[in-house]
Amino acid sequence: MSKRAFGIDIGGSGIKGAPVHLGKGELAADRLRIPTPQPSTPDAVADAVAELVDSFDIAEDMPIGVTFPAVIKDGVAHSAANVDKSWIGTDVDALLTERTGHDVFVVNDADAAGIAEMEFGAGRGSSGVVQVFTLGTGVGSATFTDGRLVPNTELGHLLLHSGDAEKYMASSIKEREDLDWETWADRLQEYFEHIEFLFSPTRIIIGGGVSKKHKKFLPLLDLQAELLPAELRNEAGIIGAAVLAHREEKALRKAAKKDGKKKDKKDKHEG
Ligand code: BGC
Repeated sequence: MSKRAFGIDIGGSGIKGAPVHLGKGELAADRLRIPTPQPSTPDAVADAVAELVDSFDIAEDMPIGVTFPAVIKDGVAHSAANVDKSWIGTDVDALLTERTGHDVFVVNDADAAGIAEMEFGAGRGSSGVVQVFTLGTGVGSATFTDGRLVPNTELGHLLLHSGDAEKYMASSIKEREDLDWETWADRLQEYFEHIEFLFSPTRIIIGGGVSKKHKKFLPLLDLQAELLPAELRNEAGIIGAAVLAHREEKALRKAAKKDGKKKDKKDKHEG
């Protein structure tokens, strides 16, 4: 059977999930979306995630990758810009592993989208510094150097006009302030000029829901980097999370095998 893992994308309004065909970088079944409980506390979200997983008939040992819009270190959330503050300090890996009964690996949402784009989308075959930005409620970033992720770059929170950049140029701000494409593109231009000055990326990939309308705003930007729309759009989070879960699970198995060998050697030696 081809390699599969399950991917879940936790967002402010919806939780989406599906099994992923890892060879093709495609969903292996229709995805399911359930509304994010409000307030979106860890407990309520964990129940919703378990409900989502239960509605699929997946193998017990299938690992699950989960995206979350926060800084994630060793499975623990360290920020909560657009989600319930009670997530800060929560061991998301442990909570969701316990609730779903599967091995769960959590990853920042933009990092997951970036992993998917690098593997199967607009980042394929690229080298040097490549950055993926997701424009949505907030602004997420994923930074890669020669294909390797530098996790949790959080560039949506750069200072711009003495405030959080994402509060100035996220696509939610375009909607809230009813900005036309030109005005919004001017804000994006300012932001990405700043990014280019700091990181000199060779390629910038723009994702998030608004990227399906990329023809309206990407041509208005004038940057040095190659500027491309994301290819996987809505599914990037689910696919990237599944890729990550598979990689992490494999690394754990390898480490356990190595430990086992070491133990055998020690037993032989001592016995
Ligand atoms: C969060 C990031 C997240 C981004 C997109 C920001 O507000 O701090 O962790 O990646 O929104 O959801």
